[in-house]
Parts: sequence; C-alpha cells; structure tokens
Amino acid sequence: MSSIQHLFDKNQEWSEQIKKDNPDFFKSLSEQQSPDYLWIGCSDSRVPANTLLGLLPGEVFVHRNIANLVIHTDLNCLSVLQYAVEVLKVKHIIVCGHYGCGGVRASLDDNSHGLIDNWLRHIEDVQRFHQDKLDAVPDMNERADLLSELNVQEQVANVAKTTILSNAWANNQDVTVHGFIYNLKDGILKDLEVSRNEK
Ligand code: CO
Repeated sequence: MSSIQHLFDKNQEWSEQIKKDNPDFFKSLSEQQSPDYLWIGCSDSRVPANTLLGLLPGEVFVHRNIANLVIHTDLNCLSVLQYAVEVLKVKHIIVCGHYGCGGVRASLDDNSHGLIDNWLRHIEDVQRFHQDKLDAVPDMNERADLLSELNVQEQVANVAKTTILSNAWANNQDVTVHGFIYNLKDGILKDLEVSRNEK
C-alpha cells in the first residue's frame, strides 16, 4: 500500500500557515459559516472552486459532479441548492463548466463508458437542443468546448426553474444565478453572461 502520510504532513503545514496569519481563523469558522457563493462545478480535479477563486474555507459552498449537471430529480444537488438558498442565503449561484471536460467529450462519441453513460445522457439532451449550432463546428475539440458552454447555459436554466429559486424570487430574495466557464490552459474564468435574478 502506498503511503498517504504526506497528506497529513501537508495538512499540518496548511493549518499552521493559516493560524500564523489569523490565530482565530478556525475557531471563529467552526462556530458558523456564511458563504456568499454556491459553486456548482465539475468533479474534475483540475477545477477546484476555492483555489481558482482565491477563496478561503467558509467563503464558498460547493457541489460538484461530472460535467456540472443540475438534474431536477437529483436529490443530492437539489438539497445543496435548497440549503444554500434557504439557510445560508447565498447571494450568487455559480454554475461553472470547463473547456476540455472529459464528461462533455464522452457524451459526443459513440463509445460505451459503462454506468456513467446514463448520467451523460443529460448532456446528450443538451446536444439535441442545440444540434444545428454544434453540427456547424467540424473540429471535435471545438465542438466539445461549444457544448461545454451550452451545457452551462442549460444548467443555469435548470437552476432557475427549480421551485427553490422560484420561491426565493417570489419572496424578493436577492440571489443571482450565473454561468461561468473555466479554461484549464490558463486558469482563467469567463462569465458566459447568462445571469438570471428573476423568474
Ligand atoms: Co469536467
């Protein structure tokens, strides 16, 4: 079995560094969290929400799954969304996709990937909604990147259509849903300008 001791060593170092800058950091954070942001992103290890936003623990509530999908029957994602909106009262919900997404790319080929194909079916639905736009892009990598953007746009709409957001907006709660895309090649986030703050 390979050692995982380095994880504990790194953790010790990280905790010491934070306490050096702010001795009360963990104590005050352990009493309460009040993040302004909910991040719904891809599970890809190269797209870590806190790190790329430069945010500390306590600043962003996070849900991640393969290809950042928001499915109306996914109790996991919906529970996160409900808690973020109704209890934490986040101001911004960010759906973030990324270029070079393996899940999005896999949805474009005809190969069998096992169980995950059932999950990727949801991206195939997005493809069907935008078939003409996608067919117009012959290069498969570029097509996958366009599909990553269109997928974010659809997932923003899915968040906006939940009863959670429609209730929040009916009660004049200040919460906006945004769609971002992240570029693995330069670490830069782009706003897809599909934000919604009302029904
Ligand atoms: Co991905």
